[in-house]
Amino acid sequence: MNNNIDRKALRNAFGSYMTGVTVITAITDDGEPVGFTANSFTSVSLDPPLLLVCPAKTLSSFEVFANCKHFTVNILSEDQQDISNIFAGSKEDRFNQIKWHADEQGSPVIEGALTHFSCKTDRNLEAGDHHLLVGEVLDFKANEGRGLGYASGGYFSLGLEREAAEVSTQEKHVRVGVIIEHQGKVLLSQNEGKATLPMTTAADNTNAVSTIMQFMTEKQLNAQLGAAFSVFEDSKNNINYIFYRATTESADAQGLGEFVAIDDIKQQSFVTLAIDSMMNRYAIESKNGFYGVYVGKEDSGKVH
Ligand SMILES: Cc1cc2nc3c(=O)[nH]c(=O)nc-3n(C[C@H](O)[C@H](O)[C@H](O)COP(=O)(O)O)c2cc1C
Repeated sequence: MNNNIDRKALRNAFGSYMTGVTVITAITDDGEPVGFTANSFTSVSLDPPLLLVCPAKTLSSFEVFANCKHFTVNILSEDQQDISNIFAGSKEDRFNQIKWHADEQGSPVIEGALTHFSCKTDRNLEAGDHHLLVGEVLDFKANEGRGLGYASGGYFSLGLEREAAEVSTQEKHVRVGVIIEHQGKVLLSQNEGKATLPMTTAADNTNAVSTIMQFMTEKQLNAQLGAAFSVFEDSKNNINYIFYRATTESADAQGLGEFVAIDDIKQQSFVTLAIDSMMNRYAIESKNGFYGVYVGKEDSGKVH
């Protein structure tokens, strides 16, 4: 490695490039499914149809991908952050935790993925600590919907960011809040017997993500920001709310309240009905690990 280059800084610099998120899958010679989360996916050529992905030599399944004849690229939908985390972290059987079916070549196609490409390996080249795995597309299916985004170590949903941007141009106050989870608990503060979430007001022309990131940095909340969870309008008070999910390894609430068990959310009385119904939805969805996204008014809207 060039001594002048700081590895961590380089990783962060590479990470500043916004991408989607894919899960690359294949089967072993014994027919066992394998897969890993990747954002190194790139389309390469239309004629012939080629794409590229870069498996690291450190992958537990590296030998499979370095020798595979076929593989499949699954582009994740905006509500599949949990699937991304399963294929980037979980050591349990990853395929037991999701719904999938095999494509014609036997590689797993993840249900609910935005798009999948079934590929024949075209070439597999060594490139430093990764390989360049080039696939020829044999078959693909693109569904309607929005993809999951990834930038600077955090997930985002472009669709929601757009909704949030539209919301914030309507000359209203925009309050941006965060549901921070730590080991089955969420950070709540109490105000005159009513519970609320860490929240801040967005300055003009500042987007919701940078507002909440800055807030968490200022409060020294060492949390990883997840996808948006709810965007709604309190028309009576002329306020728009945008809430994100986040997770933290630290039990330190930094004086912002205390971590309350998700199971106890239903006993809480929240400052507004909208936050109350949002938190009750959170309690239900955190049980099955699949989170929807609410966009609408405080009393009517749609969970996507
Ligand atoms: C958003 C995101 C993108 C990633 N992109 C890649 C990638 O392009 N190539 C890669 O080898 N690993 C990538 N990783 C890391 C692997 O998914 C991760 O190391 C995974 O746990 C490896 O699987 P293993 O536990 O079976 O070794 C990425 C992780 C995340 C969260």
